[in-house]
Amino acid sequence: MRYRGTVRVELSRDLTPDDLEDVKKALEEVNRSLTKGFKDPGEGGKVVSWGYTERVLHFEIESRKLRIDEAAMRIKNSLETSLGSRRKIGIRNIRLENALIEIDGEIRINVRLPFVRNIEASNGSTTIYLEALDERDLKKPILLRLLRLLNEKETRAKWGGKAEHWQLIKKSRAKLDVLLYTEDPNKVLEETGLVKRFSIGQWLYTPLATYLLNMLKDVFLQEVVLPLGFVEAIFPKMYPLEIGLKTGHLRGTINSMVFASLPKTYNIEEFEELTDYIYVTNEVPPEEVAKYLRHPEYFLCFAQCEPFYWFFGSELLDDSSLPIKWFDRSGPSFRWESGGIYGLERVIEFHRVEIVWLGKPDQVIEIRNDLLKAYERFMDEVLELEWRTAWVTPWYYEQSGTTEKVEEFDINRPGTIDFELWLPYKGPREEHKAWLEVGNISIHGTKFTEPFRIKHNRGETLWTGCSGFGSQRWLIAFLAQKGFDPEKWPEITREYLNRNPPPEPIVTVTYPKTRAGREELGKLIKFLKR
Ligand code: SER
Ligand code: ZN
Repeated sequence: MRYRGTVRVELSRDLTPDDLEDVKKALEEVNRSLTKGFKDPGEGGKVVSWGYTERVLHFEIESRKLRIDEAAMRIKNSLETSLGSRRKIGIRNIRLENALIEIDGEIRINVRLPFVRNIEASNGSTTIYLEALDERDLKKPILLRLLRLLNEKETRAKWGGKAEHWQLIKKSRAKLDVLLYTEDPNKVLEETGLVKRFSIGQWLYTPLATYLLNMLKDVFLQEVVLPLGFVEAIFPKMYPLEIGLKTGHLRGTINSMVFASLPKTYNIEEFEELTDYIYVTNEVPPEEVAKYLRHPEYFLCFAQCEPFYWFFGSELLDDSSLPIKWFDRSGPSFRWESGGIYGLERVIEFHRVEIVWLGKPDQVIEIRNDLLKAYERFMDEVLELEWRTAWVTPWYYEQSGTTEKVEEFDINRPGTIDFELWLPYKGPREEHKAWLEVGNISIHGTKFTEPFRIKHNRGETLWTGCSGFGSQRWLIAFLAQKGFDPEKWPEITREYLNRNPPPEPIVTVTYPKTRAGREELGKLIKFLKR
């Protein structure tokens, strides 16, 4: 990135030849101020030329990493100190003119953004011409955000889209033997009629499928969540846009969010034209329905922890209220996955236990560590699964469209750890694609406490953490490794089965659809009801 522009400094009086001599001297200080904070002075800014006409000093400046707004303000401050104190010359106004920003890579940017005059992209670089900015503009956060956006776009262009980080932390020993179950449980569940596809990426889970989902979820709550003192809360599942603005989701994942609209009116009579049409034609054209709806003012639950940050937003917390440890399992999350949808593994509507915590950095780290240990025990000893953990691009960066380089793995810093389970049906454990991410655990640092203004009464830093347990994915991975015969399941699930008899499967004249599916269901039921 390179910045160029002219800083015009309007003075309180005319300059004498003596004053001008002093300006020449002051220039050294100005240049020094422009490189302050940069190890390599070449990365800061510099004055390439300057001149004086009618009470106005003008400086042509260039900079590599020092933002041009900041450079203009530093020139003003530096001159104020030198000329103001030595020669009693005041500064009336400053103005940044003909400013341009050159970016490596051809990026796309909206010309209608504030302060943007023109954009040219060619030969692998992009130039953004800014409108003239006076001192008031230079201090506006909107300009700062524009410049940050340009910076991020450059980084993204350089890394070729999303920079995905994945670094193995730990993996379990190989546990499954050659008599391995290698069927695709997605197929078995559908063929046996335990689940039925409702719409793209959405399933109806019959009582027997629900039983299996609940079995894993209950065991997880009993073994991991409750012993650590997390308590249940119920979070809303439809969020006003404002929430997505604060978390960053509307910048980063707007393409995979599901939105909701309220009707324009509650008065049913105003719908009469539409309802008459539906009555007579027995059709519902979505574009007609849209005419009766307000613009989307909500999006459906996405990360599931957003309401937690909202709740503590603008609240003051003291030591006695910290740390806070909650979980929510009250409803589905929605992600529009477009082409990636598959079985129960990658769906649009999914269920998750979302664990959230808030506290001082040490508390947040300690809770994450305890939870991580409990997860490992859960995968290793309780469910006896083949698992691995990896240090990955934090979900809260990915989901807010931020491109920040992921630091080398340091467990005590903010970041995300993914839990992955092996799906034998997808290939040998050596293959990356044969592993399924079933959940994650994160420390967010101040990523949410800042925008939501969650504060400590003595000004101490507050951090948050969250962890998601994706019910469908855990079930698929469990069945992929253990199969449907409880004889081969871990003890805890066999006990569960004994204590809580599973419901009958649904069988009708026409359901499950295929003969093979019915036979398979027969076997499965023999196992489960043994
Ligand atoms: N909120 C986290 C995520 O969206 C954990 O569930 O990944
Ligand atoms: Zn979360």
